[in-house]
Amino acid sequence: MKRILDMITEKMQAAFEAAGYDPSFGRVNVSNRPDLCEYQCNGALAAAKQYKCAPIQIANAVVAQLDRADYDLADAVMPGFINLKLSGAFLAKYLEQMRTAPDFGVEKTGAGQTCVVDYGGANVAKPLHIGHLRPAIIGESLKRLYQFFGFNAIGDVHLGDWGLQMGLIIAELQDRQPELPYFDPNFTGEYPVDPPFTLSDLEEIYPAASARKKVDEEFAARAHAATFELQQGRRGYRAIWQHIMNISIPDLRRIYDRLDVHFEKWLGESDAEPYIPAMIQRLKDEGYAVESDGALVFPVAEDTDKKEVPPCILVKSDGAAIYATTDLATMVQRMRDWNPDKMLYVTDKRQNLHFEQIFRAAKKSGIVRPETELEHVGHGTMNGADGKPFKTRDGGVLRLETLIQDMTDFVRAKVVENQIVEESAVEETTAKIALAALKYGDLSNQPTKDYNFDLERFAAFEGNTGPYILYTIVRIKSILAKYGPWEHLPIQEPANDFAKDLMLSVTKLAPTLENALKSSAPNLICAYIFELAGAVNKFYHETRILTEEDETLKAGYIALIGLAKNILETCIHILGFEAPEKM
Ligand code: ARG
Repeated sequence: MKRILDMITEKMQAAFEAAGYDPSFGRVNVSNRPDLCEYQCNGALAAAKQYKCAPIQIANAVVAQLDRADYDLADAVMPGFINLKLSGAFLAKYLEQMRTAPDFGVEKTGAGQTCVVDYGGANVAKPLHIGHLRPAIIGESLKRLYQFFGFNAIGDVHLGDWGLQMGLIIAELQDRQPELPYFDPNFTGEYPVDPPFTLSDLEEIYPAASARKKVDEEFAARAHAATFELQQGRRGYRAIWQHIMNISIPDLRRIYDRLDVHFEKWLGESDAEPYIPAMIQRLKDEGYAVESDGALVFPVAEDTDKKEVPPCILVKSDGAAIYATTDLATMVQRMRDWNPDKMLYVTDKRQNLHFEQIFRAAKKSGIVRPETELEHVGHGTMNGADGKPFKTRDGGVLRLETLIQDMTDFVRAKVVENQIVEESAVEETTAKIALAALKYGDLSNQPTKDYNFDLERFAAFEGNTGPYILYTIVRIKSILAKYGPWEHLPIQEPANDFAKDLMLSVTKLAPTLENALKSSAPNLICAYIFELAGAVNKFYHETRILTEEDETLKAGYIALIGLAKNILETCIHILGFEAPEKM
């Protein structure tokens, strides 16, 4: 379906042409003076220069060519603006098309294309901490947005499961339980099926080893050596690694589930391992990779660089493959298995340089196709309510689960206090509201910006919050339920200004989603649904809906709020949360 602005522009261009002027002057914009008009065309001012006459003369001639049925107002005003207000009939027809088209008539521009969304980035054996909230929430939302546009969007968590944390755990475990068969290089039997540690053991072992690494050089060296041997395939270490994976992944899954974040693929850095040797060999053979101080590097600097872009390190002097290597090898795997048109990475923006380097390396060496789009969505930091980095009382990093729990407890208290639902529905309702508070609080900020986490503000039922959006949806749902079957009712012409404002908001859906996709900005969707919810609530306050005696009029109101509800629900689904039945 055409965007409304394009439709109006085409009509305006036809009018310019009919009046004897170049149609390219007919561009229409949303008015920046909503007190005067809804849309505006300033083309006559530019045309006047070309045709050497007064702009108002052109504007008048063009307006005379417009079809009056499309507009409540179509005025040429000094010095040569054309001010427009759409007619109710035009709007009603447009919204009726939106109502009956699949997905409100938004063009499926991604059909036939594949996009890998690399987000989440959890590290095995380490608990998720608050730094993992944003990549999970933003990534999930972008993936859903791609899916909405018809892309085959593949979310891949890209687990950190191949790095030093594994070597640290192995070295620490060896010190604690040297008698285990995993450490005996001569052991050839079957390793035990049961892991030598539990999840809570792991949660203690890793931080202990990580702290030790900083003060104990000998231990750090052993951990590095263990990481290297693991990567080389030492049997006993691979067996420990498998135990760690088996224990850690279900726990990561459980927390991502709580966030309603779901990955199509649970691949990790370790899955790139099989692709590394051949990739490295080729990069060497073709002269992309060169020796430098005992390491193997891929120079990616360009003459036009304003800042220094250091080479990508592929193999360190101790022989271990690192972050860039696994990321490049992962691209090899993705191209081979899925041949994506695009790869999108959602991580902290402090990783900008890393992605710049590997994107260049991948393009230069043909790991991806020349036309494969590579994008890094670098997000800012979530700080505490005081604007300072989030810390626990003892100065540690806050666990993601604790943050979710705090939000849940806060919301539950409200739900219980206000007796929002019967006891049996308290948990489900609470979970939905808490998730909306958390996600909307995050997504309503531009991804690149830092923001302050403010539990009370995010969870408020009024203001620019997730719960406010849910509340609006729930309110509409309850009106619709009282009315009875409504899905078949057609959209009618607006009966008052509030209805018209609401209808104008509805028309902005497609451009909003398109812009959000183009600029990887879910915050645009948040701003849109906040506006739409405001228009619904205004309409609701100013209009007697269920008590309206004229049944035809009433059916039109119901159709309109029904459409608004469907759009709100679609948008929050893209953002990654849903509305409860009651609130
Ligand atoms: N595990 C990484 C971290 O914690 C994030 C991974 C991001 N994705 C990627 N393909 N590098 O920083």
